[in-house]
Amino acid sequence: MQKKGNKYGTHRVIEPKGVLPQPANKIDNNMDEIYDNEILIDVQTLNIDSASFTDISTRAGGDPEKIKEIMFDIVAKQGKHRNPWTGSGGMLLGTVEKIGDALKGKIDLKEGDKIATLVSLSLTPLRIDKIKEIRADVDQVDIDGKAILFESGIYAKIPTDMPEKLALSALDVAGAPAQTAKLCKPGDTVLIIGAGGKSGMLCCYEAKKRVGVTGKVIGMTHSPKSTERLQKLGFCDVVFSGNATDPVSTMEKISELTGGKMADITINNVNIPDTEMTSVLCTKDDGLVYFFSMATSFTKAALGAEGVGSDVTMIVGNGYTKGHAEITLQELRENAELRKIFEELYA
Ligand SMILES: NC(=O)c1ccc[n+]([C@@H]2O[C@H](COP(=O)([O-])OP(=O)(O)OC[C@H]3O[C@@H](n4cnc5c(N)ncnc54)[C@H](OP(=O)(O)O)[C@@H]3O)[C@@H](O)[C@H]2O)c1
Repeated sequence: MQKKGNKYGTHRVIEPKGVLPQPANKIDNNMDEIYDNEILIDVQTLNIDSASFTDISTRAGGDPEKIKEIMFDIVAKQGKHRNPWTGSGGMLLGTVEKIGDALKGKIDLKEGDKIATLVSLSLTPLRIDKIKEIRADVDQVDIDGKAILFESGIYAKIPTDMPEKLALSALDVAGAPAQTAKLCKPGDTVLIIGAGGKSGMLCCYEAKKRVGVTGKVIGMTHSPKSTERLQKLGFCDVVFSGNATDPVSTMEKISELTGGKMADITINNVNIPDTEMTSVLCTKDDGLVYFFSMATSFTKAALGAEGVGSDVTMIVGNGYTKGHAEITLQELRENAELRKIFEELYA
């Protein structure tokens, strides 16, 4: 008889007592027995959140053995892969190994199905037995290990019409293009910061689709490589390279590009800290900033906006919004160029 679990997974919280699994410092990652409302996953690949992987890799000086050490240490201490410095997680790809008795027949999953979890690794009970390969260029780590998906946890079945690693990397950032679809309307001027990265490219495509010919999409990139990539894709009306940690010069550039009007919506997709004020200053006073980046500081954004007398509305990058997986995978089906670049980079 399996033990009864809580929908949100609080039965696995070790400390502090009473909190949900995400903010918990330690959760139980014993997988020998599962609770009646859990799904046990045989994990194949971890897609570490970009802000987290960039941070771990920097701490490890790029040394794969040190990266492994840090990852094992995080899981040993917390029972999950929540980066203690960025607070962020990522998601995973694996095969359903066991479904708890209380869920059987109630969900559209069966044992043996391949899925990507769409809830953060920062709350997912995880056991890593072996780290087999680190693909640093795409933030992916192949492992032998197990994970638990709680009853409230969302997932996507891996589609059969694209390589699984391609689907995994797109689903990792699915919240961003789907939120972009909701926020942008015809005629808007949209600034996307970190536009040449994974979520950035998806957001540029979606933004252009939504703002139409009367709107304008400005893509701010960083390296020459991502700049050239985004220019070739042709989704943006303007692409320029700059440093998003430099608020004043970026603001001046956006002022020049918008005839002083600034952006109606700014979407922040970078993987480094200290870009809050660039996002705020480039946005109209009654505009909106969507911070998808996990390197965003709530304090810096809120107090910084107050400090410059800006009335912008700021949205925290909830990784989930309705239909996010479908919207994101659809982009890759719809646009051959985008899919080609994603296949080259991530599959
Ligand atoms: N909210 C959520 O649920 C959620 C889920 C997944 C990921 N995220 C977060 O979303 C962010 C983006 O993820 P991703 O996978 O799209 O990352 P990514 O592919 O690594 O893209 C990050 C981009 O930031 C750019 N960048 C770095 N430093 C910059 C600077 N100084 N100025 C301007 N641009 C700079 C990079 O440009 P170059 O390549 O040219 O250097 C890169 O294109 C990360 O912070 C990640 O943690 C959030």
